[in-house]
Amino acid sequence: MIRVRKIAHASYEMPDPDKQAEYYTDILGLTQTAKDKDAVFLANTVDHHSVVLRKGDAAQCTRIGFQIGPNDDLNEFENQVKAHDVKTQRRKDPEPTIGDMLVFEDPKGTQIEVFKRPDFVGQRFGGKGVVPHKLGHVAFHCQDVKKVAQFYIDVLGFRESDWMADFFVFLRCGPDHHTINLMGTGSNRHFHTAFEVRDWGHLQTACDFLSKNGYRTLWGPGRHGIGHNLFAYHRSPNGLITELFAELDQMQDEELGYFAPRPWHRDNPQKPKVWAKDPSASNLWGPGPPEEMMK
Ligand SMILES: [Fe+2]
Repeated sequence: MIRVRKIAHASYEMPDPDKQAEYYTDILGLTQTAKDKDAVFLANTVDHHSVVLRKGDAAQCTRIGFQIGPNDDLNEFENQVKAHDVKTQRRKDPEPTIGDMLVFEDPKGTQIEVFKRPDFVGQRFGGKGVVPHKLGHVAFHCQDVKKVAQFYIDVLGFRESDWMADFFVFLRCGPDHHTINLMGTGSNRHFHTAFEVRDWGHLQTACDFLSKNGYRTLWGPGRHGIGHNLFAYHRSPNGLITELFAELDQMQDEELGYFAPRPWHRDNPQKPKVWAKDPSASNLWGPGPPEEMMK
């Protein structure tokens, strides 16, 4: 099976993308790499864009882009998707640096965009704002969490990293503990988008910078049990929740099947498992998420 290798970008709709772009550049510290009549493209390092903003009625995450390997065949990948009775489309030159894109919908209605990226544009890290390392993961509220998780496993080649009870799943497509997480809450919508920062020092600097600019943390800083990442969440001006994280668990090796040991692992070795719905699964340091997180 051909598996997607990494998350490349997340695309959002919002009523005022031009205005919201200021948050992504001046606060998050991404670099605006392109703008056309439909979209603003924002980058942090390797890829031409990691975030795309488009005009729409409400703030929501509408599309996720995934990259396949340089030796993988997109036609073969398309056949693999079609074998699951999923309708596909091909788009030529849909976005800068993407010449051929396969598009289909996941069961919760998010557009999945799969492509190969032959060209790297070589922009550097920005010099203002938080300046995260990369887009890490996108989390969604879900009506049917089991069905959507199975789709990511069967169609895109994801692996299950952890479950919280039977309602919250963390899925990986590379060494990172999770790239997509799905929480069964009865509705299909964006939960949060997470960007990786360097370390605890960078997270502290980021929280101070956010505070100075009028952004208060919604939850954290803390350390998640599941994934063991340091975290701090805030709400962006468009209403979507952003997480900054560091020290996320890494799968040592798919065949070995355990996460690389870190100081806070209590299992030895730490393997994918079902965690009890317990406060320590969500925050090893203190309180669970406030109600505001679920809005
Ligand atoms: Fe997260």
